[in-house]
Amino acid sequence: MLVVTGISTLVTNDASLERGKLGIISNAALVVGDDNKIAWTGEAINLPREFASSAINVSGRAIVPGFVDSHTHLIFGGDRANEFEARMSGKTYNAGGIRTTMAATRAATTESLTNNARRLADEALNTGTTTLEVKSGYGLSVTDEARSLQVASTITTETTFLGAHVVPPESEIDEYTDLVCGEMIKHCAPNAKWIDVFCDRGAFDVDHARAILSAGAKAGLGLRIHANQLQHGGGIQLGVELGVASCDHCTHMNEADISALADTDGHTVATLLPTAELCTRSKFPDARRLLDAGITIALASDCNPGSSYTTSIPLVISLAVLNMNMSCDEALWSATAGGAAALRRTDIGSLHIGAQADFALLNSSSYVHLAYRPGVKLVGAVVRDGECVAGALT
Ligand code: NIG
Ligand code: FE
Repeated sequence: MLVVTGISTLVTNDASLERGKLGIISNAALVVGDDNKIAWTGEAINLPREFASSAINVSGRAIVPGFVDSHTHLIFGGDRANEFEARMSGKTYNAGGIRTTMAATRAATTESLTNNARRLADEALNTGTTTLEVKSGYGLSVTDEARSLQVASTITTETTFLGAHVVPPESEIDEYTDLVCGEMIKHCAPNAKWIDVFCDRGAFDVDHARAILSAGAKAGLGLRIHANQLQHGGGIQLGVELGVASCDHCTHMNEADISALADTDGHTVATLLPTAELCTRSKFPDARRLLDAGITIALASDCNPGSSYTTSIPLVISLAVLNMNMSCDEALWSATAGGAAALRRTDIGSLHIGAQADFALLNSSSYVHLAYRPGVKLVGAVVRDGECVAGALT
């Protein structure tokens, strides 16, 4: 049992409270039951007497649901600081860098891959991320993809098989697609919940992506797609056609893409990854166009050694507000409940009664500071599954 009082602003994302989409309770208290689920939320003055004596007072700070980072590539060896430096001197980002990380990943021991992923997961946790999706995609052989997923499964249950990240140098696209659809899925599916394809310039075209996602669905995996990051293409339309949980990146979109996503009524989420635009000096997508069309948006970090080497969801929220025309409320919702929707989860991303007790205590009285104070460490403590796992509540 954990009882918290003195919460200036409690963001629950519980729409049933009829306090807006964020379900905000001011001067709040919160109780986590012995089952590590949210047992009670409300105004502190209404806290049932039996809880009051054991309460921890957080002295007028805000609490938000733990961030749900629904798009990361944490399983890799080495880094690409040289490539980043060259890019900052004028070279353009392309998918080819993935092969550099592939070589480093194949050469790495399983122990070092695990340690690196664990280091990044801990980094994410310390900035408020309580759920991570983690993809493979830098092994690009049956053995190395299966090994990457085995490592990913030690970090999270939200594991994604991304054997179709790019075609490895020793292969060509038809032959590699057959391998992914056959042997690779067979060996990777036991440790994967999802399958993803990088459908873009320099990676997989729509037809190969369709074959791969269809094979994944047959193997019982949920579907997601990297779509329209580097150029406009048919990735979003394909995602909608196949009913994927999420189309990710969506940097280049036309009206047909927007209405296709809107017509799914939230079944397919658009996951936007503004730190990828930031670190590749690309144009940010206009989230306002998507929101105005009624599309559900998730915000995620895309943490990977090439296009977005950060785990910070507070930075993502800040960029979404400053550069993508989202309001502070919309960005926070998208980084919590939106991420949960992109993973088709209802037990996380929200602090309704019965939800998993995952939340972040901020060092400020208002969640607006997440956007207002870019780059500042604002998360004072993180509770996951009812247990304080980073920082301190007092
Ligand atoms: O999501 N777009 C494809 N994959 C990653 C980049 C991977 C890399 O450059 O290593 C992304 O941005
Ligand atoms: Fe990605």
